[in-house]
Amino acid sequence: MSARPAVEMRGVHKLYGSLHVLCDVDLVVEPGEVVCLIGPSGSGKSTLLRCINHLENIQAGTIAVDGELVGYRRRGRDLVEATARETRIARRRIGMVFQQFNLFGHLTVLQNLVEAPIRVQRVPRGEAVARAEELLGRVGLADKHAAYPAQLSGGQQQRVAIARALCMRPKLMLCDEPTSALDPELVGEVLAVLRDLAKIEMTMLVVTHEMGFARQVADTVVFMDRGRIVEHGPAARVLDAPRHERTQRFLERVG
Ligand SMILES: Nc1ncnc2c1ncn2[C@@H]1O[C@H](COP(=O)(O)OP(=O)(O)OP(=O)(O)O)[C@@H](O)[C@H]1O
Ligand SMILES: [Mg+2]
Repeated sequence: MSARPAVEMRGVHKLYGSLHVLCDVDLVVEPGEVVCLIGPSGSGKSTLLRCINHLENIQAGTIAVDGELVGYRRRGRDLVEATARETRIARRRIGMVFQQFNLFGHLTVLQNLVEAPIRVQRVPRGEAVARAEELLGRVGLADKHAAYPAQLSGGQQQRVAIARALCMRPKLMLCDEPTSALDPELVGEVLAVLRDLAKIEMTMLVVTHEMGFARQVADTVVFMDRGRIVEHGPAARVLDAPRHERTQRFLERVG
C-alpha cells in the first residue's frame, strides 16, 4: 500500500481576472520527494506554490496536502471555501520559505523560532525553546539565538527562516526562490541546509533557478511555461535530456 501523496493537485485552474495563470495543473508529490519547479519568469511557479497553502484561491480543481484540502471543504460534490480558522489549521502542516526572509525584525532569532509554536500550537515554552535550539544547530546558527535579524547576513537570515518553518514540524516545505535575494557567496550555505533536509526525507517543493542544485538534490524536476506543466520527470532526465522543445530552449538559456 502506498502512502498518501504529500501534495495532490488535480485539474487546477487559477485566474487573475481574465489572465489564466495556472491551466489544468496536475501534480503529485510523494512523501519524502524533492521536487524542483523551474520555468521562465511569469510562468506561474510562485502562484502554484501560493495556491497549495491557499494564499491564493483557485477557480477549478482540487489541491490536497497529506490527503486533506487546504482552504476548501467538501459539501456534497462541491467545494466551498473553508473558514479562516480551518484554513489556518490546515496551513500549519506546510512550511513556507520565501525569497525575502520575512523574519520579525523586532524579535531575536530564538523569539522568531518559538513564537508560532508557543502561540499557535500551544507548545510549552521549554519544549519550544529546546526544539528551536536544536534546529538552529542543524542550520549552523547555534550561536546566533540572541541576535536580531538585522545583525545577520542574508544567508544567515534565510537559514533562520528555514529553521523557523521547521519548528512547526511541517509535513511539506514550500520554498520560493530561497536563494535569489542572496549575494552569490551566500547561496551555497542555504542550499546546503536544503540539501540536508532532503537527506532526512523532508518533502519539498522548491522553485529555483539553481540548476546545479536541482540536478544534485531534486528527485523530480517540473518545467512550467505559461501556466502549464510542460514536462515532469526524474531530475537527470528532464535536465539532461528534455523531451519538449520549450524545455530545451529554457535550459539552453539558463544552463
Ligand atoms: N496578484 C496578482 N494579480 C494579477 N496577476 C498576477 C498576480 N500575481 C501574479 N500575477 C501574474 O501571474 C503570472 C504568474 O506569476 P508568478 O508570480 O506565478 O510567476 P513566476 O513563474 O513565479 O515568475 P518569476 O520567475 O518571475 O517569479 C504572471 O503573469 C503575473 O504577472
Ligand atoms: Mg516567482
